[in-house]
Amino acid sequence: MEFNESEFLVETTVPENELIISRTDLNGVITYANETFCEISGYALEELIGKPHNIVRHPDMPRSVFTDLWQTLDAKKQWKGVVKNLRKDRGFYWVEAIISGVYKNGELIEYKSLRTPISYSDKLKNQRLYDRIREAHGEAKRTVIYK
Ligand SMILES: Cc1cc2nc3c(=O)[nH]c(=O)nc-3n(C[C@H](O)[C@H](O)[C@H](O)COP(=O)(O)O)c2cc1C
Repeated sequence: MEFNESEFLVETTVPENELIISRTDLNGVITYANETFCEISGYALEELIGKPHNIVRHPDMPRSVFTDLWQTLDAKKQWKGVVKNLRKDRGFYWVEAIISGVYKNGELIEYKSLRTPISYSDKLKNQRLYDRIREAHGEAKRTVIYK
């Protein structure tokens, strides 16, 4: 997949005083997103509902992070981690996400995610960490295409 470098490299800053919220069904299909989610991801609500949550997956994210997420959720535990997400315009935003089950009468019915901003140094740290993990696992390296 080719990216337009100029759009791809633009970071959207996540506000300190708002939560980016979404919910999914048990298969990771989006059932709800709040206004802040729409604004930060660049999608309209109707473009998100019914889509798999990997609509915002950034190619810099190692596969193993999501394997860990789903194993944690399958074990009925809460997952917390740092995620780089892809905007509709191919820009990116960094968040710390807390993802957990939504229960009704003791039954797991959905998953929810609450996201908050992280510091600049945590972005750098995680970018390097994720680059190393992808490299170690033979996943795609980051490349910039010049035209
Ligand atoms: C409630 C919830 C929120 C999620 N939020 C994100 C997210 O913000 N970004 C992301 O890349 N994946 C998120 N995921 C994980 C995706 O469902 C998916 O596993 C991941 O994007 C990897 O995509 P893939 O399995 O198609 O490779 C979330 C999953 C759940 C259950």
